[in-house]
Amino acid sequence: MSTLGNTAVTSEIIARAVKEFGTPFYLYDERMILDKCLEVLKMPNAFGLHVGYAMKANSSRALLQLITGLGIDLDLSSLNEGLRAHMAGIPYSRMMLTTQDVPRGRSRHDLEELMLKGMKYNVCSLRQLHLIADFAVANRIKLCIRLHPGVGSGESVTRNTGDKYSCFGIHLNDLEKALAFADEKGIVFDEIHMHIGSGGDPDLWRANIDRELSCVEQLSDVQIVNLGGGFKEARMPDEKPADIQQLGLYARRKFHEFYERTGRKLIMAIEPGTFIVANAGFVVTSVVDKKSTGEDGFNFLIADAGMEANTRPLLYGARHPFYVVSKTGKLLSSEFDLSELYPEADYRVIVGRCCESGDSQSLDSQGHIIPRLMANPAVDDILVIGGAGAYVSAMCLANYNSYVQPAEILLRSNGSMCVIRKEQTLEQVVENELFL
Ligand SMILES: Cc1ncc(COP(=O)(O)O)c(C=O)c1O
Repeated sequence: MSTLGNTAVTSEIIARAVKEFGTPFYLYDERMILDKCLEVLKMPNAFGLHVGYAMKANSSRALLQLITGLGIDLDLSSLNEGLRAHMAGIPYSRMMLTTQDVPRGRSRHDLEELMLKGMKYNVCSLRQLHLIADFAVANRIKLCIRLHPGVGSGESVTRNTGDKYSCFGIHLNDLEKALAFADEKGIVFDEIHMHIGSGGDPDLWRANIDRELSCVEQLSDVQIVNLGGGFKEARMPDEKPADIQQLGLYARRKFHEFYERTGRKLIMAIEPGTFIVANAGFVVTSVVDKKSTGEDGFNFLIADAGMEANTRPLLYGARHPFYVVSKTGKLLSSEFDLSELYPEADYRVIVGRCCESGDSQSLDSQGHIIPRLMANPAVDDILVIGGAGAYVSAMCLANYNSYVQPAEILLRSNGSMCVIRKEQTLEQVVENELFL
């Protein structure tokens, strides 16, 4: 089988795209994105489900259109994300802002304007709460409150947003203070929010439901309980994805128990990013050179994109599966099936072109190179980095070494391919620079 992962992308499609567009580029599979959305929308729940896609995972306009077209709303990390999504035709009433930023000046003006147009504001600190209180009360706008659970989980230490090493949300120790202030001002919280981290542990996700529901008992106006994102996706063959059916069944039972105890029917909200797009994306590159560093060294494959296109390995030792494809479209190796490897299969290292020794696609969290078993491509053959739909294009170190941002291509459900973002030009890279 020449299919890459569980997507509709095959090695033949990759070779066709390389011929048509030239490397490097990002490639996304529409069919998989839509299937993932439908899977999420079917998550079991007790009294209703609201889904907001965490657009920070991948903010590409066409993907926002696809995802929101199925009825999924948006979770924003910044006001700019809201303005950007609005440019894609999505109304503010379908967005919730959860930000570390404290909007000031022009941003404060935007915040008020967007809230008046229906964007929900999820206050994440006492300061944010104090600053928005009068405006919210004067305009009868209900707020969401993000609480810091004190316990978190994530794919790496730096992706854990719930423990004491991160400062997202109002800490549970400050909850009473926040509620006393809200009471005094007449602020209504109709939603509560907790997010433990990205790609987190399902057991901790379950524990978070219990913790959050216990907080809701103190918040009598809350109608929506937002459990955040963080559903683990399996990018690598040895990883296990979150079973959102099972998580949903657990949540449904807990929401029912809450109803029996309190008579309150709560809507469940979730904010997946990774789960929807991670495995639907690839970085497609060509081998431009090959080098070796001697007998106890490494076999390097130099690709025409690396850390500037996918920063995750360097940033937190994230692992992505590699596929080697001949330029004629033959799948030479896939980490999902290493049984049919070439005789020359060996441990190799994929690196990019940047003048930076950390520009490798396979590093541990300390920055050490981890060679991986794969076929031996020729120069001009194709290296494909999988699991690259989330936090890859959106989080890339664009323009380091003055490389331009690659194009983004969408494989449509009908098998056609279209450019959804053009390759950046060098003129665009320097357009805001001024001569002395
Ligand atoms: C508040 C919030 N919601 C949702 C998400 C999405 O997480 P994931 O992509 O792991 O689903 C994040 C990620 O950082 C987040 O901070």
